[in-house]
Amino acid sequence: MDNIIIEGGCPLKGEVRISGAKNAALPILISSLLADGYCTYSNVPNLKDVESTKELLINHGAKIEAEGDTVKIDSGGLNNHEAPYDLVRKMRASILVLGPLVARLKKARVSLPGGCSIGARPINLHLKGLAALGAKVELVHGYVEASAEVLKGAEIFFDAVTVTGTENIMMAAVLAEGTTIIRNAAREPEVVALAEVLNKMGAKIEGIGTSVLTINGVSSLKPVFVSIIPDRIEAGTFMVSAGLTGGDVKLLDCEPSHLESVIHKLRLTGSIVTVDGNSVSVKGGESISSIDIKTIPYPGFPTDMQAQFMVLMSIAKGFSVISETIFENRFIHVSELRRMGADIKVSGNTAMITGVPALSGAPVMATDLRASASLILAGLVAKGVTRVNRVYHLDRGYDSIEKKFSMLGAKIKRVKV
Ligand code: EPZ
Repeated sequence: MDNIIIEGGCPLKGEVRISGAKNAALPILISSLLADGYCTYSNVPNLKDVESTKELLINHGAKIEAEGDTVKIDSGGLNNHEAPYDLVRKMRASILVLGPLVARLKKARVSLPGGCSIGARPINLHLKGLAALGAKVELVHGYVEASAEVLKGAEIFFDAVTVTGTENIMMAAVLAEGTTIIRNAAREPEVVALAEVLNKMGAKIEGIGTSVLTINGVSSLKPVFVSIIPDRIEAGTFMVSAGLTGGDVKLLDCEPSHLESVIHKLRLTGSIVTVDGNSVSVKGGESISSIDIKTIPYPGFPTDMQAQFMVLMSIAKGFSVISETIFENRFIHVSELRRMGADIKVSGNTAMITGVPALSGAPVMATDLRASASLILAGLVAKGVTRVNRVYHLDRGYDSIEKKFSMLGAKIKRVKV
């Protein structure tokens, strides 16, 4: 189990290249299940969750070749419709094989992903959508068992905006007979990216980027060569680090149009944010102003940036309110930030933060990917040394985070325990 040790107080300066998006790479690699022949993906981030996805696809019979940030996947030899508990428990997003397997193999047996530290993470909407397309869906001994001789287009309304729910149903519907309409669909850039990849494979999806997707089923899809979009949450994390440390950081290879709500909020805190093509520069302001944040589905402020902004607000001048409306337990980082001197009170899904002059380094731990990232940020600005334990959570979603921060001048290192 690795730890990351940080000595705080260094303003971050320099350039950092943003990697491909985890939450686009996972569904897009899984979409290779829908086509025979080699699909090629470039700009794939080097993450534990990507490794888990490859392992899962090989389990289904896919052939995979990887070199650098390019991954080639051939699902021509699919021979197993089951995704076992041991694989699914490592990565909840494994549930995304459900739609493609039913579409390609007419059946699937996928372990229920279960909850995680940020919430129960139900998949009822995934299952409701699949049943609407004509699949027989049962829960048997902790597994989802789904089957359908033929999937037929249907009109589906999601009671909640669900990112992977939209992705799962989209991947089932592209090979269904007839037309599917998904209402209240998620509009996240990662959902848009998947829809665009499916259309490149020969699918017929309209309304991409809106909350109403119309999918005219086709009989088969062809392999594709695509590049994974940049990771807007990694980008947002580095943007906050510049504002937090009073630094001056330029992000390369990012997609500013995916970051409008984050850029807007960061400017309100006093950071100077400049957009230039695929680069975003962030210069810390004279001081950090407190603002209120409410997480909502895209294009609103992303829940995956909530913990990072909480660190910024913990040393801002004044009082901030952060409302987390997406997940029921996404304040795990609060207790750890308190141990570093933050003044935060939580009531239900609302956190009330009173800015303090400084945080102080401490040994801390988190059990959620973005909470772990927020503790790294806190360590970068705290007085003294911070040791972040259990960083395997970080490695699931950030590509070499300590190396990138070190390149920006941070006193940060990884130690093996
Ligand atoms: C995706 O999770 C992301 N993961 C999450 O990123 C992200 O936080 C989340 O979307 C919200 O943006 C991937 O894309 C792999 P949801 P997902 O279904 O799809 C409820 C990270 O840190 N819901 O959009 O699982 C659910 O409980 C991760 O990178 C149902 O009730 O999230 C939640 O309250 C964390 N029933 C809300 O919808 C369902 O069937 C949104 O969840 C599905 C969801």
